Amino acid sequence: MKVLITGGAGYIGSTICWALKDHGHTPIILDSLVTGREEFARDHIFYQGDIGDPEIVSKVFEDHPDIFATIHCAALIVVPESVEKPYEYYRENVVKSMHFFYQLAQLGYPRLVFSSSAAIYDVVPGFMVTEESPLKPTSPYSRTKYMMEMVLEDFTQAYPLQGIALRYFNPIGADPQLRSGMHIETPSHILGKLVEVAQGVAPVFNITGTDWPTRDGTGIRDYIHVWDLASAHIKAVEKFDQVIAEDGNTARQYAVINLGTGQGVTVRELVDAFERVIGHPIEKQEKSPRPGDVAGAYANANKALALLGWKAEKSIDEGIRDALRWGEIRDQVLDYN
Ligand SMILES: NC(=O)c1ccc[n+]([C@@H]2O[C@H](COP(=O)([O-])OP(=O)(O)OC[C@H]3O[C@@H](n4cnc5c(N)ncnc54)[C@H](O)[C@@H]3O)[C@@H](O)[C@H]2O)c1
Repeated sequence: MKVLITGGAGYIGSTICWALKDHGHTPIILDSLVTGREEFARDHIFYQGDIGDPEIVSKVFEDHPDIFATIHCAALIVVPESVEKPYEYYRENVVKSMHFFYQLAQLGYPRLVFSSSAAIYDVVPGFMVTEESPLKPTSPYSRTKYMMEMVLEDFTQAYPLQGIALRYFNPIGADPQLRSGMHIETPSHILGKLVEVAQGVAPVFNITGTDWPTRDGTGIRDYIHVWDLASAHIKAVEKFDQVIAEDGNTARQYAVINLGTGQGVTVRELVDAFERVIGHPIEKQEKSPRPGDVAGAYANANKALALLGWKAEKSIDEGIRDALRWGEIRDQVLDYN
């Protein structure tokens, strides 16, 4: 089946495109390349354009009237940047997404899978969150995700639209065949920083926060291999109508599903796994938490298993290994000049 992927030239969207292709489906990318990479789009049907441009959106559906579902990954995603530029984040992630959702309903393409985030959860005792756990987004970025969940739920009540919001935990790794991976040149995420220390680019890895009420005092997250994440989207699309029909309250046309491994991993445990994979220890030091840091969360992944028949299969070591393998060839795949 044909599936429209907005943001398909980004890290997660491009991985979903390859997973779709490997399952015999046809991805169609709509991406403005504001942050994404043309190299990730060139092997697929690709429209370079903005989700906020109704003409290009209409053209995509005119050219491909048989699109079965839309996966909406397009967004700006950098938390500190969202604090500095909230107008841009609300404009891109909320205003444009809202018009785009409405246009999908008007054009008669009701099936919509939305890239949401576990960053919208509040911290709960024990750190494991279900889809019913309290929400408390703490940055403009995470508030855009929270708002779009609410918009989507309201739209599905009022318009011919059906939505599945997938709350991603912490994606790591790359396409195991190395056709795509993380593309940001200087990564700000934890695995990127570990790699920089291992490569000698940075002198020491800072463990920021060692007094959280976790088993070893460091922050806890749920690191999910991006290929597992992509595979969940295949299930969400293939089982879309079933998921909407089965998710509890039958009046609703909207479902929320956590996409995580169900395993909490602390920063120290991630560092241990990293050292295990590279085969030697790295320089590290303990520091105070950074402003805005939280103890963290990991997924209760039962609903994904029940509704999608999906669970994460790849280990944290595989995620680290694939990230390192991708890092070795990335500059041959992507042209940064
Ligand atoms: N990476 C993570 O850790 C993470 C975690 C949770 C949720 N998510 C969500 O997953 C989605 C994909 O994230 P990613 O890591 O692949 O980010 P990314 O920056 O690699 O990809 C985003 C893509 O969207 C495109 N885009 C942005 N605004 C657009 C617009 N107005 N019109 C058309 N294209 C536009 C960009 O060019 C880029 O290719 C996002 O919605 C993000 O919020 C990501």
